[in-house]
Amino acid sequence: MFKLKLPTDPRWANLAEKNISEVLTDHAFCELKAASTATSLISKFPDKTELVQAMVELVKEEIEHFHRVHELLLSRGYELGKERKDEYVNELTQFCIKSGYSREEYLINKLLLAALIEARSCERFKVLSEHFKNSDAVLSQFYHELMISEANHYTLFIGFARKYTQNIDVEKRWNEILEFEGQIIQNYGISELIHG
Ligand SMILES: [Fe+2]
Ligand SMILES: [Fe+2]
Repeated sequence: MFKLKLPTDPRWANLAEKNISEVLTDHAFCELKAASTATSLISKFPDKTELVQAMVELVKEEIEHFHRVHELLLSRGYELGKERKDEYVNELTQFCIKSGYSREEYLINKLLLAALIEARSCERFKVLSEHFKNSDAVLSQFYHELMISEANHYTLFIGFARKYTQNIDVEKRWNEILEFEGQIIQNYGISELIHG
């Protein structure tokens, strides 16, 4: 899926099912962070008008996702728990974003990083949607819808990376990032977090 090197370990879905309030809480914060990535791109690249316009729409959509996850938590008698560290995203960020980058390097890497996080999130949502197909129709449908949204966001970010590159070989960099993700993902799939 999206050229991701490895699929999620299917056992992760069982873990998620047993800790659904934790998963939904972590998921809610993922949506909030996605909105914050979009606002930070607006602040850092105000001159990229097309990007700014797309990020405004994205902020609205990610906040709506946050709203939906939050409502789902409440409807099941839970409340939003505490935010937990996302080691997966931290590792990827360290790999993708280095100090001393030029403006272009920063932009392209930031866009590719966002594309990858959308792609893996989408893959995890697909796992959840399929896992809950026969046991929880509401969750299954919910994750199916979000899977489609996040797939579109992946396409959006990859598209901007290709559009704005001047001196960077985007395909080469994208492959390096995919390789790295394929290695680190082997250490995940063992906790009740969206990227855990
Ligand atoms: Fe989202
Ligand atoms: Fe997204």
